[in-house]
Amino acid sequence: MIKVLFICLGNICRSPLAEALFNHKIKEKGYENFLNCDSCGTSDYHIGELPDERTMASASKNGIKICHRGRQLNRTDFRDFDYLIAMDDSNLSNIKKAANQHKTSAKNLFLMRSFQKNAAFSEVPDPYYGGVDGFQKVYEILDSSLDGFIETLEKNHPELTKK
Ligand code: 4NP
Repeated sequence: MIKVLFICLGNICRSPLAEALFNHKIKEKGYENFLNCDSCGTSDYHIGELPDERTMASASKNGIKICHRGRQLNRTDFRDFDYLIAMDDSNLSNIKKAANQHKTSAKNLFLMRSFQKNAAFSEVPDPYYGGVDGFQKVYEILDSSLDGFIETLEKNHPELTKK
């Protein structure tokens, strides 16, 4: 099983949506027996909470089921996950700091938008303090970035497409 962890700051806006959308896409492709994912935040601000209601609304508007409770990145995540996918530069640096604190290293750590074709920017912007349209924008960025990420997984793991 290839395990992917999507990481943002609060784990209530961007990364739970990335998780839900990834699950939707891999199910459509029939990869659910080979891939799984989770999401978390680098902060402890929203542990145990459901995703932000604007995230829920954007998921349901786009026909995506979302089911997650906020949790914080922890030591075992560095061991248990094969890919760590950060939403922005600040997440990336927090993840590296956490790895150092836990005396480990972050393998296969990438920015989400590094997989987006023709990406205009390198970060998935934090929508928390903005309006509803920011959440739709995040949805669109995640949608195309995840398509690129799944293509990369197909290249890195040929067993996915050999069926
Ligand atoms: P997320 O958004 O990192 O995409 O979940 C945020 C959620 C909460 C906060 C910041 C960003 N906050 O400061 O509480």
